Amino acid sequence: MCGIVAYNGKSNAQERIIHGLEKLEYRGYDSAGIAVVDNGALKYVKSAGRLQNLKDKLEQNPVDGNCGIGHTRWATHGVPNEINSHPHLNTKEDIALVHNGIIENFSTLKEELIADGYTFKTETDTEVIANLLDKHYDGNLSSTVEKVISLLRGTFALAIISSRDPGTLVAARRENPLILGIAEDGVFAASDVPALLNYTRDVIYIENDEVATIQNDGSYSIRKFGEEVEKEIHHIEWSMESASKDGFDHFMIKEIYEQPKVLKDCLLRKVKNDFVDLGETSFTKEEILGFDKIYMSACGTAFHASEIGKRAIEDAIGKEVTAEIASEFKYNMPFLTENSLLIIVSQSGETLDTLTVLREAKDRGAKVLAITNVVGSSIDRESDKVIYCDAGPEISVASTKAYSTQLLSLYLLALDFGYKLGTYDKEFVTDIVKEFESLPEKVEKMFDSRDSIREIAKTIANKKSMFFLGRGLDYLSAKEGALKLKEISYINAVAMPSGELKHGSIALIEEGVPVVTLLSQMELFEKSISNIKEIKARGAYTIAIASEENSALRSVADEVILIPKTHDMYMPLLAVLPQQILAYETSVILGNDVDKPRNLAKSVTVE
Ligand code: F6R
Repeated sequence: MCGIVAYNGKSNAQERIIHGLEKLEYRGYDSAGIAVVDNGALKYVKSAGRLQNLKDKLEQNPVDGNCGIGHTRWATHGVPNEINSHPHLNTKEDIALVHNGIIENFSTLKEELIADGYTFKTETDTEVIANLLDKHYDGNLSSTVEKVISLLRGTFALAIISSRDPGTLVAARRENPLILGIAEDGVFAASDVPALLNYTRDVIYIENDEVATIQNDGSYSIRKFGEEVEKEIHHIEWSMESASKDGFDHFMIKEIYEQPKVLKDCLLRKVKNDFVDLGETSFTKEEILGFDKIYMSACGTAFHASEIGKRAIEDAIGKEVTAEIASEFKYNMPFLTENSLLIIVSQSGETLDTLTVLREAKDRGAKVLAITNVVGSSIDRESDKVIYCDAGPEISVASTKAYSTQLLSLYLLALDFGYKLGTYDKEFVTDIVKEFESLPEKVEKMFDSRDSIREIAKTIANKKSMFFLGRGLDYLSAKEGALKLKEISYINAVAMPSGELKHGSIALIEEGVPVVTLLSQMELFEKSISNIKEIKARGAYTIAIASEENSALRSVADEVILIPKTHDMYMPLLAVLPQQILAYETSVILGNDVDKPRNLAKSVTVE
């Protein structure tokens, strides 16, 4: 996730900004940059790669001055290189800004600016804002920013300086985090608390559409829609370590709680006017019809998302789709031809097993569409088409928010295919997209169950093994629940289709064995109830995760976790949450290293 640090005050801005950016390194980034107004002139330095590269450049050419902005970029638009890194400048190079977020209407704005004679150097959406500020400049940086943000659709946290208004730093936000830090020698604007802790613990949280104006003498004001707003100063008690996790105990739980936000981000670039719009990242009707067969391949959690995506795509195209685990598929893909489509799913974009399948498919002349979270990764570069998950960097080894955005991206791809082939009409797609837009709220609601899930985790924590059961899509969700638990609690968890248990594994059910059963699919509900009764009669500790209209289950299972309702096809997006929380709470109770579980690495680049 990109990081912003800006400073205006009595001290050297470069030193404070670089220190702040170092403290934001944990968020992940691929390039960095800084701009400072130095003696009335705007100077900037940018560099691809690690912050050390930027520091090396600054050692040769320091940017002095007391008012500046800095940024670490996690690419979401345009490849990760020096040109696309922030700060971005207007054509005249006298306004510089750093930006976190996505400007949805940037192409329309860009066309208008080009017609006005502006030129662009980068592939980013951010450069549009720099030229808009130039176009609407009214002699005052702050009021110009107020005007310009009213033209932007999408999300942003911004910090802006200009040699036209050399003593002023302006910062604004919509949806993306931004705080001010009130220090003795000046005022900071930053995307996260750790950037400031060395200099101050007094912060102001900037809210949506607020514009903060910071002067060189340390004075500041905050306005919203032209009106001045009074803001409270909060004193931060967190340690540096807990601040980098936003006050959460671990990155994993922070990332679980980020899911409402990343689901919104994931929709931003793939939806326009309540309709799926994948643009160039998808295929035309003729191309889709031309594929003899669609294959999907991935590993681990990404494979679990693929298996669900497969069902959605089959529904959309009315043909069978094959989903294969990459580490096996690479040895056995006899029917994949130059007329096939391979859909690859990978958070990191670097998983070697998945890459090997991709390369083999490319060698055979097949088309490859990747769903990945990392712009510029090998899978991104080597695929024909790419849909980005927009989950932001995932730091915890156990994947959570990446899974949700992989699923949502696959659902959107299925809708796109289904609409193009005439399986779904416009009204249907619009209804589903609106349903997706309501999902973040439903996910948020799930967090209310955390306390009761923690109580269940206390019982599970001293068990040696357990089961996760489900029918249909619930079985596929259960596979992800079992993997999460295994990875971080080290308890053996077996995922099974509910109906398969009686064919052998039921022999393992005895007094106290925990069994999680998922019941989110309405037409399979009755059958799954019978399974719960069956295992309860044999002494199992039964935990049901069911959609909310099934509260009657309380008389059947020992524990019931209810999840909000959406269409059955999309229930996996909600069913995964209690399972992620259950795995997390169990791991915490056991005192495990939640974010770095034993024997595991975040990116698996060996076969
Ligand atoms: C589980 C997990 C792994 C990954 C798998 C594929 O929490 O993170 O199972 O899903 O190693 O990784 P990517 O998606 O980076 O290809």
